[in-house]
Amino acid sequence: PPSLPLQGKTALVTAGPTREAIDPVRFIGNHSSGKMGIAIAGELARQGAAVELVLGPVSQPVPAHPGIRVTAVTTAEEMYNACLNLFKKVQLAVLAAAVADYRPARTADRKIKKQTASLQLQLEPTPDILLELGKRKKKTQLLAGFSLETDHEQDHALAKIKEKHLDMIVLNSLRDEGAGFLYDTNKITIYTPDGIARPFPLKPKTEVARDIVATLLTLKPR
Ligand code: C5P
Repeated sequence: PPSLPLQGKTALVTAGPTREAIDPVRFIGNHSSGKMGIAIAGELARQGAAVELVLGPVSQPVPAHPGIRVTAVTTAEEMYNACLNLFKKVQLAVLAAAVADYRPARTADRKIKKQTASLQLQLEPTPDILLELGKRKKKTQLLAGFSLETDHEQDHALAKIKEKHLDMIVLNSLRDEGAGFLYDTNKITIYTPDGIARPFPLKPKTEVARDIVATLLTLKPR
């Protein structure tokens, strides 16, 4: 029987948001539903890959597939540690998580009381997982990232490919109706290091996942 294109390959996928605790009851987070990354994990598994899905806190169910193993994480730091560990054993990685760029410099161990004066939170940067994996990438590995921008989308996407040593970046603009966070649909453009742009029409995220994986399959590790 014809074997699946990703039979014998292992893939890392990140999905969902992260949460950075302010105190025991509050956090800094974002609107990511995890749908896009979960759909990519499902498609990679359908194509025969063993998928390591590192998943932030989402309400979205993960399709039951023997090829998908979930590592549940909450913070950017936890996602970073899980990814560094898993990246060593994978042939491809697609980072679709909406990782917090900043976290509170200190987490209060008790609930912060309301006060009449304004409250200042000091924030510090979180690790850039995609950047760190790019630094560690071997010739045999493929690395794909996402880019969600509101302006100068193409310039930012191409700069990220270079800076983070990516083989591909998936751009979705917040300017496009029905694309990005929370929607079941997405409208993407895929960029590769050669500067070629592959635009796709608005479609369901499950079909977008197919386009992303199909494009990945055409790429050779650099
Ligand atoms: O540079 P920027 O944050 O816009 O890049 C977005 C891409 O980087 C996404 O693929 C996202 O999953 C990844 N990312 C990451 N770690 C961070 C921030 C973003 O892996 N701390």
